[in-house]
Amino acid sequence: MSQAEAISYGSVALKPSRFPGLALDVAEVHLWQAPLDGRPADIFESFLSADELARANRFHFIKDRTHFVVARGLVRNLLAAYLGINCSELRFSYGAKGKPFLLLDGQTQINFNLSHANGRAAFAFSRGRDLGVDLEYVKEDFDVELIANRFFSRAEVLALRTVPAELRKQAFFNCWTRKEAYIKARGEGLSMPLDQFDVSLRPGEPAALLNNYREERELTRWSMKSIPAPEGYVGALVVEGHDWQLKSFSLEKVNAPNPSANVTALACPQHNRLSLG
Ligand SMILES: CC(C)(COP(=O)(O)OP(=O)(O)OC[C@H]1O[C@@H](n2cnc3c(N)ncnc32)[C@H](O)[C@@H]1OP(=O)(O)O)[C@@H](O)C(=O)NCCC(=O)NCCS
Repeated sequence: MSQAEAISYGSVALKPSRFPGLALDVAEVHLWQAPLDGRPADIFESFLSADELARANRFHFIKDRTHFVVARGLVRNLLAAYLGINCSELRFSYGAKGKPFLLLDGQTQINFNLSHANGRAAFAFSRGRDLGVDLEYVKEDFDVELIANRFFSRAEVLALRTVPAELRKQAFFNCWTRKEAYIKARGEGLSMPLDQFDVSLRPGEPAALLNNYREERELTRWSMKSIPAPEGYVGALVVEGHDWQLKSFSLEKVNAPNPSANVTALACPQHNRLSLG
């Protein structure tokens, strides 16, 4: 199926010419969110490279495969739209711990990171700033204290205990997503000891990297934010530097009265909706 057909089918093939406003300034960070279910995986597959398809085929469960394929297909379309090139021209490379980045000529710089949880994805983009994003689905039934003792720093475990019981799960996910976004921004994955830095977690307090016991200068290098997320999800974003502004977008499925005419819409923060169908 061609890219043009993909558009008329109501999937997401973002053509730069259709979005003259899809420009990313150096002082901006763009955050996109999208549901991954209910999108035609075969179309998204056509945007993937051979190694991505090979990886997709190693998933045991079809649902996990679909989420991976759609998330990669979406990130490729967004990158292509920012750069004004075709998806097929994008080349990914990977850091030592698996962080994907774009191989580009020396002139253009675009950084990205993505996260998916329970059928939803978040994608973050910047020009020349390292960044990490994490989105988690708030699970109901698990032992907060047990998991916190295993993954959080001593200061975080103590802070969590001071949070009223009814807010503790929210505090737990604040902490988890902020730690995860930080290690993803650094590209280190779980090779970075999780007890060697502290993040804020109390509901209502700003997201912040509070301590890094190994590298104090890290505190001024990064900024951390909670990201707006729908009910049942929590997310965090960590970006290099402080002189940037967040712009949020979403790629939600919009149900048209005629189901065969379903379109994907691009919703801007000002609630403008641009139909891709
Ligand atoms: C792999 C890891 C980077 C993120 O894993 P995760 O939370 O399960 O998954 P997410 O959906 O948030 O992120 C996965 C995406 O991050 C990107 N990624 C992979 N390795 C990465 C790295 N080293 N750094 C940054 N991003 C990375 C990839 O794009 C990947 O998506 P893909 O499916 O397209 O390949 C790593 O941090 C990990 O294994 N975490 C396990 C969870 C944990 O124990 N967290 C403790 C928090 S207190």
